[in-house]
Parts: sequence; structure tokens; C-alpha cells
Amino acid sequence: MVAHNFTIRAVAQESAEILTHIHEQCFPRYWNREAFTDFFVVDGTFSFLVENEFEPVAMLVYRVAFEQADILTLAVLPSWRKKGIAKLLVEKMLDGCKGLGVKKIFLEVEVGNDPAIKLYEDYDFKHISRRKLYYQQLDGSLTDALVMSRKIN
Ligand SMILES: CC(C)(COP(=O)(O)OP(=O)(O)OC[C@H]1O[C@@H](n2cnc3c(N)ncnc32)[C@H](O)[C@@H]1OP(=O)(O)O)[C@@H](O)C(=O)NCCC(=O)NCCS
Repeated sequence: MVAHNFTIRAVAQESAEILTHIHEQCFPRYWNREAFTDFFVVDGTFSFLVENEFEPVAMLVYRVAFEQADILTLAVLPSWRKKGIAKLLVEKMLDGCKGLGVKKIFLEVEVGNDPAIKLYEDYDFKHISRRKLYYQQLDGSLTDALVMSRKIN
């Protein structure tokens, strides 16, 4: 088994290019650098980056507003999946939310994205509603989003 040396650190606007690079390798319709730069203009937007020996491998972006947080995106590069990296990111985000007094976290995930749905279920996120025809695919078709949420005590 190969030993990995993952580090996780908070990043912001200055890392927009790296976040874009990860996002574009993980989603068919990816967000550009401008989108990532704009995220951080809004107060309460936070991001964590995971690196292996300084090589960026995964990231999570979330936003806190008063007692509510929203996960905006989470992505692990394909060749780094199934190594517990998403768990590292979710746990770091949960710690961050607790520290900021967040009471409830929301996210949207595409119907059929079983790895992500399973991950969130493992962390007690419940299915609370469905957004019809929320995501546009590359072929123009539309798919639903599940809205998931969990409380923080
Ligand atoms: C979803 C994603 C972030 C998971 O990242 P990961 O680092 O591989 O996940 P981890 O190794 O930390 O696994 C954590 C848990 O997620 C679930 N999971 C991860 N990959 C899975 C898969 N292929 N099938 C089923 N469950 C899976 C499991 O519950 C796993 O726990 P386990 O290892 O104890 O079974 C990654 O697949 C990804 O980046 N996908 C593309 C982008 C995406 O869909 N982002 C989420 C948008 S909301």
C-alpha cells in the first residue's frame, strides 16, 4: 500500500485557479476561475484544499450565513478517490461550522450521484426535498437535484 501524506489547509480567492483546475476534472459542466473568484467576494465563504506533497488533489467550498451553511462544491480528483479524502474535507467543514455557531447545513446533489449521496448519508445528511430539472447536462438534458440537510448540535 502506498503511504500518502495529505495536508488540508484553508484557501480563498488566491487559490481560485487551483480550485477551478480540480473542479473542471470532476464535473462535466465546470465552474470557471471567475466563478471561484466571485465566490470569495461574499462574506462567509470558506474553502479547504487537500494536497499530497504539495500536489492539489481535492477541495470543498462552503458558505456560512448566520446559523446556516451551504456546501457549494466538493470534488476529489478521479485518481485520488476512495482514499478517505472527502471524509477529511467534510469533517473539517463540520468543525468549521461548529466553530461558527452553525445549526444547519444544506447541500444539493445530483440524483444518481451515488458516491456523493452515500458520503453525505454517512454524515447524517437527510434527504429533505428534490429540485426538479436543476442540473443541465452537456447534451442539454436536465436532471433533478436532491436537497440534503443535517443539524449540528
Ligand atoms: C463524491 C466524492 C467527493 C467522494 O470522494 P472520495 O474521496 O472518493 O470519498 P471517500 O474516499 O472519502 O469516501 C467517503 C465515503 O463516500 C462514499 N463513497 C465514496 N465513493 C463511493 C463510491 N464510488 N461508491 C459508493 N460510495 C462511495 C462511501 O460512503 C465512503 O465511505 P467508505 O469508504 O467508508 O465506504 C468523489 O467521488 C467526487 O469528487 N466525485 C465527483 C464530484 C462530486 O460528485 N462531488 C459531490 C457533489 S455534491
